[in-house]
Amino acid sequence: MRILLINGPNLNALGRRDTSLYGSKTLPEIESAVIAGGKELDAEVSCFQSNSEGAIVDYIQEQTPNAQGIIINGGALSHYGLSLRDALVDTGLPVVEVHLSNIHARESWRQRSVTGSVAKGVIAGLGWSGYLYALDYLVTEITQGGEQ
Ligand code: DQA
Repeated sequence: MRILLINGPNLNALGRRDTSLYGSKTLPEIESAVIAGGKELDAEVSCFQSNSEGAIVDYIQEQTPNAQGIIINGGALSHYGLSLRDALVDTGLPVVEVHLSNIHARESWRQRSVTGSVAKGVIAGLGWSGYLYALDYLVTEITQGGEQ
């Protein structure tokens, strides 16, 4: 089983961005933890980050024929990235959206996610562990054929 872990704009700056909101772990540290979690669950995790919506859409189009699920934190694209939203829908794959911060406790424009509305579910506010919870859910979901 192969799961894509996709991070959008500014998430490459984790560890130096507002750590009270986003935590002190860097993106490579988080990616390593999710890859390690995947190994325990017999899942290969492929990681990608870009600050550009088009590059993320390209990655999704290229990689999803060989993947079974997607974990995505689209950063601010979550709130307005309609081409990202369409690309996720077109994959037909189960998607779990993750936000490090609790977007529902922040500015009103952050409380709506155009990509979250096409995801199986959204995990927000649980910090980097949210990525591990998403992985756990997806592996079970894929293994059990969508019967959760
Ligand atoms: C974020 C929340 C977004 O609103 C913000 O633009 C980010 C990070 C989060 O993980 O909490 O870049 O997606």
